[in-house]
Amino acid sequence: MKLLLTTILLSYLQLFVHCQNDYCFGKDNERTQTRHFTSKTAYQIIKGTNIEKEYLVPGCKPTKIWILHRHGTRLPTVKTIKSAPKLNTLRDEIVANYRVRRTKPDTNALCLEDLSLLSMWKWNSSITVDQEQFLTMQGYEDLKGTAKTYQRFYGDVLTKNYNNTYYKFRHTDTQRTTESFKAFAEGLFGADVKVQPDQIPEKDLLLRPYDYCESWKAHDYSGENSENYKFKHSAIWNKTIADISKRLGFQYTLESSDIELMWDMCRYEQAWHVDRTSVWCAMFTPAQVSVFEYEDDMKYFYKLGYGFEENTRLNCRAAQDMLTHLNSPTTPNVIAYFGHTSGVQSLLSALGIAKDNIPLTANNYNRTDYNWKTSNLDPFASNFVAVKFTCNGNVGDKVIFFLNQNAVDLDWCDVGLCDWSEVLKRYETLYTADCSSYYCADAGAASVVKSLSMLFISIIVYLLY
Ligand SMILES: *[C@@H]1O[C@H](CO)[C@@H](O)[C@H](O)[C@H]1NC(C)=O
Ligand SMILES: *[C@@H]1O[C@H](CO)[C@@H](O)[C@H](O)[C@H]1NC(C)=O
Ligand SMILES: *[C@@H]1O[C@H](CO)[C@@H](O)[C@H](O)[C@H]1NC(C)=O
Ligand SMILES: *[C@@H]1O[C@H](CO)[C@@H](O)[C@H](O)[C@H]1NC(C)=O
Repeated sequence: MKLLLTTILLSYLQLFVHCQNDYCFGKDNERTQTRHFTSKTAYQIIKGTNIEKEYLVPGCKPTKIWILHRHGTRLPTVKTIKSAPKLNTLRDEIVANYRVRRTKPDTNALCLEDLSLLSMWKWNSSITVDQEQFLTMQGYEDLKGTAKTYQRFYGDVLTKNYNNTYYKFRHTDTQRTTESFKAFAEGLFGADVKVQPDQIPEKDLLLRPYDYCESWKAHDYSGENSENYKFKHSAIWNKTIADISKRLGFQYTLESSDIELMWDMCRYEQAWHVDRTSVWCAMFTPAQVSVFEYEDDMKYFYKLGYGFEENTRLNCRAAQDMLTHLNSPTTPNVIAYFGHTSGVQSLLSALGIAKDNIPLTANNYNRTDYNWKTSNLDPFASNFVAVKFTCNGNVGDKVIFFLNQNAVDLDWCDVGLCDWSEVLKRYETLYTADCSSYYCADAGAASVVKSLSMLFISIIVYLLY
């Protein structure tokens, strides 16, 4: 009897100890890992809240603003929408592992809350491929919100009266940037004002330079010779995939792609409904999230960041557009563009923002002190906002660069406040470059090659007949 009691007591204690150790997403009030979801991080979690302390410059008044805004939270890509029903199967398997097969791990298992929420999850089958990457309601709110926030602080420049000489807007040729532009305009002027954006050129070199740059496309940022590939074939990655599989009760290791699908759904749902929790996020411990974060940050580091020197020249046109606009005394006073991850990140690398002295590599996963953290730089609705100040007397003009409502702390500026003359000096190369030959001189080359080969064909045809 005594022995039995002791055994029961001991196993309770053991259970208790395990419960203490087991990570429970549903019970975690902080959920700090949601700040590490890279380019699918919710804007509302990342946005700066100190703008009050940074926006005023004594003796100066804001006169011009230039904005590059990523679209807000969107629906998944075609590939993810098509794979999403697989999550229903994974859900059933995990629940069966725990409740029927009894292959729940002895330590570090899913908690009861997380498991029972998972068992009730369903894929929203109204999300169909024809809506791929559409802006969500939260995404619309994100952009309305940033417009109102910046207007609250810089209402003298971001006036509530619209006219098309003072304001210049443009978006890319997608639903999500078109809707983002509308949301932003609604935030500034209300829902009833008709705002006319500029026409999208056939070749959008300004907002999508990457679409026309063959030499940039040739960089291997996730293929066989990349650091990303090395990382995804490393012991750390393998162990992470195996640990996650084990934690979910599988007696074999899941495909990486299944786990990445759960990771994607976690991040999407968390960004679609910022005040709820996605059950899929419970499938990952905070330490496992760090592994996925690093993998993605490293991908972007080589795709758009400092991993390849040429990346810093890719967005020459947008950087130059900003400098020219801020330097010009004439209208428009406000320019706002609505684009994508690639545009925002390559602008940051053009401007030397968040630069790392030590490159991100598969082998130095251990570091957490790197700057190219895309969760902070480029969440959904990320925005780069340059505010130019005209100053009195012999004080030179100033500028503050905001990234997601935080003043960018460049080391040659004074806690975020930069001298305009210094800006022009630092970025002189970009300011004066001929962007069409600075990099991607091949942007127009495709058509030259085509017409040359047409010429050859004509000659051959001529010779033959
Ligand atoms: C399901 O998706 C559709 C289409 O995007 C959306 O309108 C609807 O609100 C979603 N339903 C739920 C319960 O989230
Ligand atoms: C356009 O709007 C700006 C800012 O509100 C205002 O200063 C300017 O007078 C307006 N111009 C015209 C032609 O209405
Ligand atoms: C990781 O797993 C893959 C596939 O199972 C295997 O081919 C590779 O050798 C493993 N790498 C390491 C470093 O364990
Ligand atoms: C770095 O990672 C290795 C595993 O690859 C681990 O053994 C080591 O403790 C880590 N070091 C730090 C400083 O985190």
